[in-house]
Amino acid sequence: MMVAKKKFHSARLHVRQFLSKYRYSLASIVLILGVWGMASAVAWNYFEQEQELQEATSQQQLHELDQAIERLEAEKQAQEKLEEEKRKAAAEAEAKKKAEEEARRAAEASQNTQAGGTSGSCNTASSHTNPNAIDVMVNKKHCLKPLSFAPPDLVSTHGATISAKAAADFNRMYADAVAAGQAFTVSSSYRSYATQVSTYNYWVSVNGKAAADTVSARPGFSEHQTGLAVDVGVGGCTLGCFGGTSQYQWFQANAAKYGFIQRYYSGYEHITGYAGETWHYRYIGVAAAQDMQAKGIKTLEQYWGMEGGTYR
Ligand code: DAL
Ligand code: ZN
Repeated sequence: MMVAKKKFHSARLHVRQFLSKYRYSLASIVLILGVWGMASAVAWNYFEQEQELQEATSQQQLHELDQAIERLEAEKQAQEKLEEEKRKAAAEAEAKKKAEEEARRAAEASQNTQAGGTSGSCNTASSHTNPNAIDVMVNKKHCLKPLSFAPPDLVSTHGATISAKAAADFNRMYADAVAAGQAFTVSSSYRSYATQVSTYNYWVSVNGKAAADTVSARPGFSEHQTGLAVDVGVGGCTLGCFGGTSQYQWFQANAAKYGFIQRYYSGYEHITGYAGETWHYRYIGVAAAQDMQAKGIKTLEQYWGMEGGTYR
């Protein structure tokens, strides 16, 4: 027991001696450890903050990337929608065009049938069929071929829209009529197939079909569609009124000099298919018109030896 106590005192003495001897070294070590600990804590803190910042930055970038992708997808969808709408509009326009074309063909076919024949049989002549020639025959037995023909050379002059083939002679006639104190006006000239549909339907609505057929041609059967016919008047005095004017007398004496003939005379309805029209003049060229006048022939059907009368 005593021995153990002695050993204990001796150890304490050694510790004290050791601490006393190395007190500065030990203090330095403690100081160094303290400084190192603090520096580590600061560095760790800085590292953690840096980590958090980097994480936040990455998340922000990811978010922005997501937003950019969403925007791009929305733009792509809008573009696709626009293209789909364009495709739809184009398809609709094409379908409308086809339907219109179909309706026009159906109208032509029905018009041919109404004329009493099947499609394509409303003009079987072997001559006077060229709608671009001034000797084309157009009456109830001779439709225009094609039925919806439109002259390629229309010009506007002195209130008329006519084929260029008739324009020079028409202008001469107009100037000479004015010079002779017989100025006239034009109430109707070129009429398209579509216009003739309205014109003919108007007369049907006013007088019924049978009566309309005596004064108005069915679409595709009117000389007005050739651009070679004019209806003349004197101001508001048109149609039936014209026959009582001095201008009518002037036309009777002079129209042939300019290649024009009165196309429908009273008394020739069974040949021309129409009641007399003092106002309707057809251009056939100066030589033919003067020849007809010299021979006293009143209708083109007789002059060209072609069939007239009513529809087939
Ligand atoms: N009035 C004539 C006949 C036409 O419609 O062409
Ligand atoms: Zn006419």
